[in-house]
Amino acid sequence: MKERIEQLRASFHEALAACVSGQDLEALRIEYLGKKGHIAELMKGLRDVEDKKTAGQLINGLKTEIEAAILKADEEFKRAEIEARVRQAKKYNPTLITERELGSYHPITLATREVEEVFIAMGFTIENFSEIVDDYQCFEALNIPKHHPARDMQDTYYLDNGQLLKTHTSAAQNSIMKKYGAPLRAIFPGRCFRNESTDACHENTFFQMEGMMIDENISISNLIYFMKTMLSEVFKRDVKVRLRPGFFPFVEPGFELDINCAICGGDGCPSCKNSGWLELCPCGMIHPRVLEEGGIDTEKYTGFAFGLGLTRLAMMKYGVKDIRDFNSGSLKALSQFKSK
Ligand code: FA5
Repeated sequence: MKERIEQLRASFHEALAACVSGQDLEALRIEYLGKKGHIAELMKGLRDVEDKKTAGQLINGLKTEIEAAILKADEEFKRAEIEARVRQAKKYNPTLITERELGSYHPITLATREVEEVFIAMGFTIENFSEIVDDYQCFEALNIPKHHPARDMQDTYYLDNGQLLKTHTSAAQNSIMKKYGAPLRAIFPGRCFRNESTDACHENTFFQMEGMMIDENISISNLIYFMKTMLSEVFKRDVKVRLRPGFFPFVEPGFELDINCAICGGDGCPSCKNSGWLELCPCGMIHPRVLEEGGIDTEKYTGFAFGLGLTRLAMMKYGVKDIRDFNSGSLKALSQFKSK
């Protein structure tokens, strides 16, 4: 038995010296300490030995020696592995340029910023306004009393408390007049909501940008000048527009400003409901009743207001055929604005 133990001790240390990895070590552990390993086999052999006590002590001594040697070698392998990883990590170059997908601005954000820049340069301030408003702000203050037929054009989503999601950025007019008084030059972009069926040029959630200028001697000529400047700066090319009479209870006179459809060039397509023109920016001289409701002295001041369809402007500027692409979250449609 003693001889066999010495043989196993020698062969274990030889095999241990040949181990090059944690896996080798585990295989060696199973070979010697496993259920059917050499130590178990020695233990079984005790049955046939006379001096069981001495033999048992020798076997246990070998077992303890093997366990300690394996533990030590295991720690060494683990340390070596960590050191190798650290060496590898040092090779990582954080300045290396890698291909990464970058996000991009939404085309409506781009269009909004562009229009804002044009109006800032002309002395307008930018105002932010809530998407939730009340009936007074959205309708009453704009000369649209309850049961007025103009309300039919702008059905929206109502909250339980009677407030509503604003149908147009005009809902901010009254508050802004009260906040600043006259003279006043302000634009206020915002998201609008309407309960209506969608098609290539209508969404239930879309953006408008309202503008108001109130001062002494403001006339339709001022209105036309600002509209023309805005369009030529934003499109940076000649765009055909037409001005026709339009009815809105909060302006008098009121106009519809249409843009020649950039998708079909005016021939007619689904984006312009086959008319060749797209309603873009209704506008007009602010109704005296609306000015008075905003606390403006109508003896001294007049003003104009416009409600630019920002989402439609983005359609025309970037050649987007279907307005629904803007809210679709489709990367295929929106990723083309990456470089902008
Ligand atoms: C209004 O909302 C008025 N508040 C505009 C106004 C302001 C008139 C100040 C006079 C003075 P209208 O409902 O036509 O008007 O909408 C204005 C523009 O918003 C439209 O010309 C169009 O460009 C855009 N628009 C309206 N409804 C939708 C819709 N469902 N989807 C996309 N754009 C829309």
